[in-house]
Amino acid sequence: MLYKLIFRLIFSRMDPEKAHHLGMFVIRFSSKLQLTKLLPKINTHNVNVLGESFRGYFGLAAGFDKNAIAVKAFGELGFSHIEIGTVTALAQAGNPRPRLFRLKEDRALINRMGFNNDGAEVVAKRLEKLRNSSDILPVIGVNIGKSKVVELADAANDYRTSARLLAPWSDYLAVNVSSPNTPGLRDLQSVTALRPILNAVLEESLDKPVLVKIAPDLADEDIVAIAELAKELKLAGVIATNTTISRSDLKAAVREVESYGAGGLSGAPLDSRSLEVLRLLRTKLSKEFVIISVGGVETQDQVLERIKAGANLVQGYTGFIYFGPLWARKLNRI
Ligand SMILES: Cc1cc2nc3c(=O)[nH]c(=O)nc-3n(C[C@H](O)[C@H](O)[C@H](O)COP(=O)(O)O)c2cc1C
Repeated sequence: MLYKLIFRLIFSRMDPEKAHHLGMFVIRFSSKLQLTKLLPKINTHNVNVLGESFRGYFGLAAGFDKNAIAVKAFGELGFSHIEIGTVTALAQAGNPRPRLFRLKEDRALINRMGFNNDGAEVVAKRLEKLRNSSDILPVIGVNIGKSKVVELADAANDYRTSARLLAPWSDYLAVNVSSPNTPGLRDLQSVTALRPILNAVLEESLDKPVLVKIAPDLADEDIVAIAELAKELKLAGVIATNTTISRSDLKAAVREVESYGAGGLSGAPLDSRSLEVLRLLRTKLSKEFVIISVGGVETQDQVLERIKAGANLVQGYTGFIYFGPLWARKLNRI
């Protein structure tokens, strides 16, 4: 209720990216002032997967805390795990603004951020400091991607650099080949392009679990091919899905949607395809392979539906914008 009012009066009137930075500031500040400690304790499922103990199924998807600046605070807000990143080997500014748009009627976002991040070296130092603090932390996944200036042909070495720098501080590594906002990146989902990248990351992983994050726009046979590759290379599992380039079945007017231009669509409209991809993956991957399901999840019922459909963990991003800071606690509470 209160968040809805604040959203309507403040956040929804601001540029979405500025609102994001204000939100991040408030979240970090609330944690510093220990205001998050005033929240009543909640009971959660204890989920043992990827060699870690998760306090609940539901975690924060990649892209919200790209630079690992608010990991502890998000843990206090009830997320069982935080997937930081996408981090690239080279620091980069991302695409020109504006690059983040709200489709309010659809409870969706369109973004073409383009992996704006501080780079693997800086983020690794930040994570090292965090690990050496006495803070209670959620499980930390590190999502890595290709630096924009690096040619697709040299992608494996670029991912290798990020994996080498970040594996020591991660609980799992997520190889992102599915963002629509780095030219050519999604072509790396073909088995021929993906194999050397995953091998490079596995070599640097220090035996931390490695998962691959895929797009919802892949044809079913390509999803099956990635599942087969995951088995062949003994990956820990698959994260499904990233944002979609589809614009079908939206409530927002076509002209409005078109005015925002290219980018990945996230939020409620992604629910059914994300669930479908999960079901397909689970028919191909036996239970020793982990599936993290993400895309369009807003409620606890949806979290449980994903678990029933074969997910081990569930993540969300866009729901945070529309449901506010207590969202994860609601979804993880039992
Ligand atoms: C603004 C924004 C930035 C994102 N950045 C990343 C990213 O850097 N890396 C990544 O793997 N996914 C990124 N994502 C995708 C999310 O992690 C997630 O896969 C997608 O939004 C679907 O989940 P949702 O419907 O709960 O938002 C981003 C999503 C949004 C909305």
